[in-house]
Amino acid sequence: MASLPLSCYTTTQFSSSISTQPPPRQRFSAQTPPPTRRFQVRSTGGPNNEKGENSPPNGGKFDRRNLLMGMGGLYSAANLVPTDSPASATPISSPDLSKCSRGTDLSTQQPLDVNCCPPVVDGITNYKLPPVTKMRFRPAAHLAGKEYIAKYEKAVAAMKALDKTDPTDPRGYSQQANVHCAYCNLTYEQSEDSDTKLQIHNSWHFYPWHRWYLYFYERILGSLIDDPTFGLPFWNWDNPPGMVMPDMFAVTTSPLYDARRNLEHLPPAAADLNFASKPTTDPSKIVTNNLTTMYGEMVRNVSKLEDFYGAKYVVGTAPDPGPGTVERGSHTALHVWVGENTPTGEDMGNFYSAGRESLFYSHHANIDRLWSTWQGLRGKKPKGFKDKDWLDATYLFYDENKNLVQVNVKDALDNEKMGYTYQKVDNPWVNYRPKPKVKKSKAAKNSKAPTATDTIFPVKLDKVVKVLVDRPRKSRSKKDKEDEEELLVIEGIEVDNSKFVRFEVFINDEDDKPEDLRDKAEFAGAYSQVPHKNSTRTKSKIRLGLTELLEDLDVDDDDQILVALVPKAGGEDITIGGIKIIYAS
Ligand code: C2O
Repeated sequence: MASLPLSCYTTTQFSSSISTQPPPRQRFSAQTPPPTRRFQVRSTGGPNNEKGENSPPNGGKFDRRNLLMGMGGLYSAANLVPTDSPASATPISSPDLSKCSRGTDLSTQQPLDVNCCPPVVDGITNYKLPPVTKMRFRPAAHLAGKEYIAKYEKAVAAMKALDKTDPTDPRGYSQQANVHCAYCNLTYEQSEDSDTKLQIHNSWHFYPWHRWYLYFYERILGSLIDDPTFGLPFWNWDNPPGMVMPDMFAVTTSPLYDARRNLEHLPPAAADLNFASKPTTDPSKIVTNNLTTMYGEMVRNVSKLEDFYGAKYVVGTAPDPGPGTVERGSHTALHVWVGENTPTGEDMGNFYSAGRESLFYSHHANIDRLWSTWQGLRGKKPKGFKDKDWLDATYLFYDENKNLVQVNVKDALDNEKMGYTYQKVDNPWVNYRPKPKVKKSKAAKNSKAPTATDTIFPVKLDKVVKVLVDRPRKSRSKKDKEDEEELLVIEGIEVDNSKFVRFEVFINDEDDKPEDLRDKAEFAGAYSQVPHKNSTRTKSKIRLGLTELLEDLDVDDDDQILVALVPKAGGEDITIGGIKIIYAS
């Protein structure tokens, strides 16, 4: 398809996630005079400029409305991108740090035992990407040499030292970890008009937000060692030589070491991209399973933008509307694989503590690299949403000069424009199209499983659930398949998100041996999520690509498919609201 399928991003598509909340109110009505501007957001030429000239008179607290008032540049007509999105939608904007709250543990109704609110300073700078003079180079961690490792260790040691000299220095190691915690622990308000809390995970903010987070983290490290070309190492876990914790993180005396890990997963344990709290993968199959999983997440299941990036999330959207393939799959698996083998999984296996683990930044550098790789594989297909609710979303970070800066999504779409590049490595999953275990299976025709109707839902995943799902269309033409992807939609996925949960989805499994199918075409994909400290029950949705899968199983003429939902972790805490097949352009 040559042009962006705008119809995919209309009100209809996203109505379910938005309509569960009251519609966002206008920021100010015509009757209300705009508030007096207390200070300006300045657009600067780059990170080396001093911070905003005007200080707020209110003791360092700023008013979000004033911030928006000062953003004429961003919201001027010339910069607006045409869009089909609902008129009432408001993109997520930088949170009001002064309203950061510690949050409540909903299960105990006690304040959380962790406070990750950042320091509040005067003034916000509107960040402009500095001109790129020399690219930062991000090496594969397993290929990095001694000299590089020594440099990286020195930078992290300097960052950790800041924790001691000034615990409020936003460049310090703990403060940097808190940045992640605050944006995923429901500590910020989505907007001043909404009491819905902000959560950037499990939505279309996943890639751009983490890209900016690593961007500043890397610049801070570079500035602490006076090396403006410093680049973070990436953990190349999608490539067999990288499918093990990189050695530099496993040296107990190194500043890169973190004691709060699953010690059974230190080298040479193989990293399992389908990990589910206890080992469920035959070690001899980890590599082939991993490559199959990568093929599914990066090629087979992501012909539509939403399936790669995650679901739309604007002001008013409830947390966790729907994660993209990588986020809900290999990303989560490795978070939990690295963290302690306990229900809360510190450090890496829980959002609030993940930023305390140096390996986290290499994990996400690889995800960031995969984003760019995926864009490169797209050819003429759209590489990102044209929706301004995505492009104009803004976030706040501290830069390497301790300035509080505001960034947006549209500046984060090209890593080279942001001044960094990745070491070239193999992507051996690109052509790793799995074979079917059984062709022309009679599993659906012979099955006594109930048909997926509302009467069987909601259903709890405390055991394997099998359902027959009707296919509204079959035997589609090649052109039809190119125009519209057949998608299995699993919706109303309700989980207690303080717990790690995972389930896997298989199509037409004849033998009830799902473990054997993870490197086969029958494996449609998985849902899993990293525990959040601030627990809430959320309803999420995933979509799994069926067009290629059903061709490979040679059942494209069947009226129904047999879907098996196989709980792998925390099944008693997962409820499924419904399953259906749709066709998306
Ligand atoms: Cu923000 Cu991998 O989590």
